[in-house]
Amino acid sequence: MSQRTFSIIKPDAVRKGYTGAILAEIEKAGFKIVSIKKFSLSKAQAEGFYHVHAARPFFGSLTDFMSNGPIFPMVLEKENAIADLRKLMGATNPANAEEGTIRKQFASSIEENAIHGSDAEDTAAFEIGYFFAGVELK
Ligand code: CMP
Repeated sequence: MSQRTFSIIKPDAVRKGYTGAILAEIEKAGFKIVSIKKFSLSKAQAEGFYHVHAARPFFGSLTDFMSNGPIFPMVLEKENAIADLRKLMGATNPANAEEGTIRKQFASSIEENAIHGSDAEDTAAFEIGYFFAGVELK
């Protein structure tokens, strides 16, 4: 059954001009782009998005990074979208990512790791709703 997931092309990848190449990988892997926009998060909006990581030592640095330049949040759809996107992204730390994954090709560190993808159905629902209204998701 078709499933939706949420993804962000992060500020490091946008700044380096990798947006088109990453979208090409996503489409090549069979995802339909349901909705996408260019957006700049405030620090408070980044903190709200990553609230589950609030107690982590990297929370301040992560939310500074995510609010320091434009991002492309998007909703993607395909069979098994959540697991398949995480496979296509590769490990959180690009040093551990498999050849051919988006993070292996485009990420530079565990924080500046080019792309985000939801890890479960409940987080996908929260993350989609954080950036997109229902009328943007036909
Ligand atoms: P993401 O998939 O967006 O989810 C949480 C983010 O926190 C993760 O990608 C990384 O960008 C960042 N992150 C995770 N672990 C660390 C870490 N140990 N140090 C710095 N940033 C991290």
